Amino acid sequence: MTYRFETLQVHAGQTVDPSSRARAVPIYATSSYVFDSAEHAAALFAGELEGNQYGRMHNPTVAAFTERLLALEAGSAGLALSSGQAASTTALLALASPGAQIVFSNELFGGTFSIARKILEPWGCGVSTAAPTMEAITDAVQDNTVAVWLETIANPSCTVPDLAAIAALCQERQIPLIVDNTWGCGGYLCQPLTHGADIVIHSATKWIGGHGSFIGGAIIDGGGFDWANAKFPAMQSLDSRGRSYLTRAEKKPGQTAFSLRAYDLGLFTMGMTLSPYAAFLGLQGLETLSLRVQRQCDTALELAQWLEQQDAVKRVIYPGLPSHPSHETAKKMLRHGFGAVLSFEAKDTATARQFLDRVELASHLANIGDAKTVVINPWTTTHASLNDEAKREAGVSPELIRVSVGLEDPADLRLDFARALQGA
Ligand SMILES: Cc1ncc(COP(=O)(O)O)c(C=O)c1O
Repeated sequence: MTYRFETLQVHAGQTVDPSSRARAVPIYATSSYVFDSAEHAAALFAGELEGNQYGRMHNPTVAAFTERLLALEAGSAGLALSSGQAASTTALLALASPGAQIVFSNELFGGTFSIARKILEPWGCGVSTAAPTMEAITDAVQDNTVAVWLETIANPSCTVPDLAAIAALCQERQIPLIVDNTWGCGGYLCQPLTHGADIVIHSATKWIGGHGSFIGGAIIDGGGFDWANAKFPAMQSLDSRGRSYLTRAEKKPGQTAFSLRAYDLGLFTMGMTLSPYAAFLGLQGLETLSLRVQRQCDTALELAQWLEQQDAVKRVIYPGLPSHPSHETAKKMLRHGFGAVLSFEAKDTATARQFLDRVELASHLANIGDAKTVVINPWTTTHASLNDEAKREAGVSPELIRVSVGLEDPADLRLDFARALQGA
C-alpha cells in the first residue's frame, strides 16, 4: 500500500522496536553492535549478510530517518550524512573523476561553489557554470560532462528552473541530473525525481529539521540512471573484495552503483556520519514538515504582497508573485506553494541596514528553514566572498534583504517589518 505524503512523514521508516515497543524512534546511542557468532561477523564483513557492523556506517535511528526521507522524495536508495555540505561533496566525488566535467547552475549555493573550486578543479575535474535554463545548459554540456547540478529554487533570486525540460535534455545525453532540493522542503514543495532528475541532495539543517537545532544532510538516488556508461570509471572500480560497485548493485534491489559508492566514500571512507541525536531531531522535524512548510509558504506570499505596497521597498522577489520571471515555471515545478523564502530590495542601502538593525521579532542570522523568521543582507554576508559582478549575476544587490519566513502570526511579522522600515 502506498501512503500519502502526510502519512509517510510520520510513519515511513519505522518498525516499532520489538523489545521496548517505543512509539517514537529510539535514539540508538551506540558506536558498535554485538555479533551473534564468528560466522555471523564474517558474513557481515563479507557483505553476504545485511546488518549493523559499526556506527560510522550503520545506526538504526539514522536508518529510520533515511528511509523516511526516501519515502518523501520517492527515491530508491540513499544515505544521510553529517551536513548538507557532506552530502554534496560525497555525491560529486562519487561520480566525478579527473578529466570529466560538471555543469553547475550559476545561481549556486556558495558552499557548492566552494566544493567545485577547492576540490573538483584541483583534482582535475572541469567545472563550468551556466544559467539554469535549457539553452544555457545545452550550450555548456560537453562529451565528458558527468553531471548537471541545479537548485530547485535559487538563493536569493528565487529562480525556479524547468527541471522536467532540463531532465529530458540530460536523459537524452545520458548525464545524471542532480538537484539540490533543500528549498523544495523535503519533497513537500517539489519532488525532483518525479520530474526526471536522478539524484536529490538535501541540507536537512533547513526545513527538514525545521527548528534550527542541528546540522545534517542527505543524498537520495532515484535509481533509474545507467551507471555502466564508460564516462563513470569509478563505478567499475573494485572494492577491497574485488567487486565493482556495478556488480554489487545488481545484487541489491533499489541500490545503484552510485548509491553504493556514495555510501562507501561518504560514510565508510570519509566518516561524514550523521549522529543518531541529529537523526532523531530530523525525524521529529519531518513529522510536522507539511504543516510547517504550508504555513510558511502561505505567510511568505502574504508578506510578499504586503511588502510590494511599502514605500521603503523598491522590489519584491518571490516566485509566487506574477512579477517574478519564474512565476509560470514555479507553478509547474512546485506544489502547495511557492517556497518559504522571499527577498526584497529596500529603496537604498541605508534602509536595508536600518531594517536589519531594527527588526525585533525576526532574527538577523545566516540560516533558512527555521520555525522563526530570519533575515539577512546577502551582499555583506552569505555572498560576500563573490566579486561584485558575480554577486549581481546571482541576483544580489547591496540593498537586498533575504527573508526565510517562520511560523509567527503574519500580522505580528507585518508589524515588526513596518516598524523596522518606518521613517526610512
Ligand atoms: C541550498 C543549500 N544547499 C546546501 C547547503 C549546505 O548545508 P549544510 O549547512 O547543512 O552543510 C545549504 C546551507 O545553507 C544550502 O542553503
